[in-house]
Amino acid sequence: MTEEKDPTQQVESARTAFEHEFERFTNLAGVIALNSLENELTALKELRTRHLGKKSAIASAKKLIGHVPPEERASFGQLVQKTEAAITESMANAEAALKERIETARSARESIDVTIPGRRLRQGHLHPITLMRQRIEDIFVAMGYAVEDDREIETDFYNFDALNIPEGHPARDPQDTFYTTEGFALRSQTSTVQIHAMQRRGAPVRMIAPGRVFRRDTPDPTHNPMFYQVEGLCVDRGINMAHLKGTLAEFVHRLFGPDTKTRFRPSYFPFTEPSAEVDYSCFSCGGSGCRICKSSGWIELGGSGMVHPNVLRAANVDPEEFTGFAFGLGIDRTCARIYQLDDIRLLFENDVRFLEQFR
Ligand code: FA5
Repeated sequence: MTEEKDPTQQVESARTAFEHEFERFTNLAGVIALNSLENELTALKELRTRHLGKKSAIASAKKLIGHVPPEERASFGQLVQKTEAAITESMANAEAALKERIETARSARESIDVTIPGRRLRQGHLHPITLMRQRIEDIFVAMGYAVEDDREIETDFYNFDALNIPEGHPARDPQDTFYTTEGFALRSQTSTVQIHAMQRRGAPVRMIAPGRVFRRDTPDPTHNPMFYQVEGLCVDRGINMAHLKGTLAEFVHRLFGPDTKTRFRPSYFPFTEPSAEVDYSCFSCGGSGCRICKSSGWIELGGSGMVHPNVLRAANVDPEEFTGFAFGLGIDRTCARIYQLDDIRLLFENDVRFLEQFR
């Protein structure tokens, strides 16, 4: 075929060439797989470029329209147009049919098989420390205590001065904490809430304050630099040491059972006078000695005492009219004892296999 060929013949042979190649797209019933259908669509698009694109025979035939003798021009123009329209329509129909089959094949592949067994959702649960905190809260709320929440970043005033620990006092050392700039520090004990609660509520007041505290303690089986305490404070007219002992005795009865005994050992805290460490008889052996209580029969609960008059004064409560008791218990160690953990650090390692055991 040469350039000088009759223009009408050129259009005819363009049509025949198209029909020859297009034929296989008219019978794609046997093609079923999604990727084969997608390949056919790509091939069809290539066919369109070859037969309708800028370099196609039809495109060159269009350029000839201006060169044919004027008397033949109209009919030749119509022939080119009709041929192009016929090719375009065949292509469009085939493409639409293919796209529809591809859609059907895709949705068949993506449809959900409702008979496949479901995947079980992994349900979370509360952390053992939270469970422990809730048990403690329930007991004190039942005894008429409010639950206070307060800040973890404190000024020296609330963490030390107001608690009768002036600057340079040796009691600051064992509670050395993490300092920020501008005189703030992470609180080293929940006793800070004693002051806030009295300033907020005045006296009388009866509250517990569970929360996180921070100290520069080296981690070991019984120490963490971050741990939980629960503070207790009861201030009213005529409160004395017997109320403190009765309250903590009742608390351990409700937490560990009615046979649990308490023991008070003289101690020292700058913010209480007198002060005492509180122990309870081992919930496992009942006091005869076992692995849990390290053969002593007793387990330490925390510190306690009668609120120092200076602390009442710092919180604008008149020590001539009011007296009170306070205590501070370590939640982590109590939790570790109850669950018989050898190391409180296990509570913060975020090992799901460990945590899953405490639902
Ligand atoms: C205090 O923090 C006092 N504020 C308690 C108090 C409150 C006394 C009110 C009197 C009146 P102490 O430093 O002993 O006391 O800590 C109390 C409890 O926190 C301890 O019995 C222990 O259970 C726990 N504890 C202390 N340090 C750590 C630590 N590094 N890791 C885990 N638990 C700790």
